[in-house]
Amino acid sequence: MPIRINGIEADLPPDPRVSLLDLLRETLHLHGTKKGCNQGACGACTVLVDGERILSCLALAVQYEGRDVTTIEGLSGEGGLHPLQQAFIAHDGLQCGYCTPGQICSALGLFAEVARGAPSAVTADLAAQTVTLSHDELRERMSGNLCRCGAHNGIVAAIAETYDAGRLARAQPSEAAA
Ligand code: FES
Ligand code: FES
Repeated sequence: MPIRINGIEADLPPDPRVSLLDLLRETLHLHGTKKGCNQGACGACTVLVDGERILSCLALAVQYEGRDVTTIEGLSGEGGLHPLQQAFIAHDGLQCGYCTPGQICSALGLFAEVARGAPSAVTADLAAQTVTLSHDELRERMSGNLCRCGAHNGIVAAIAETYDAGRLARAQPSEAAA
């Protein structure tokens, strides 16, 4: 069974030692996903697999047979850039841009984790059913994605704004029904 990258099926590498990151960059020429440390420390290689964020440098491509992988190239569509990409531009959440694809994919994974109430290291109540994405929660949950340029303030602002906009959009139908 092939792997699906941004909705398109691709063959798995015959060599089981090939990382998902190298499959993306070297074989499929999807260079948006970046290789920083290549050892799980920087987050530059973050992609989404079935909506969950993973470090593609630590993943063997063959592990993801039949799975749906989304890279930064898969986020924009006919309507243009993803709202989070637009927010990064609006908030100057990048300088050189090397960490940016990983930051954006990681933040989208973060949104899914918060939506299902997954706690982080700074969540006070581990039994709580819901998580409030406070400033500290956001910074902790993005701490695996490093920016060497110092764009962290803009990155946090872009993610917070996009999360709040999504939350308001999700709240509107129920508010209307109330
Ligand atoms: S390249 Fe994967 S974590 Fe740094
Ligand atoms: S924008 Fe350069 S490393 Fe983050």
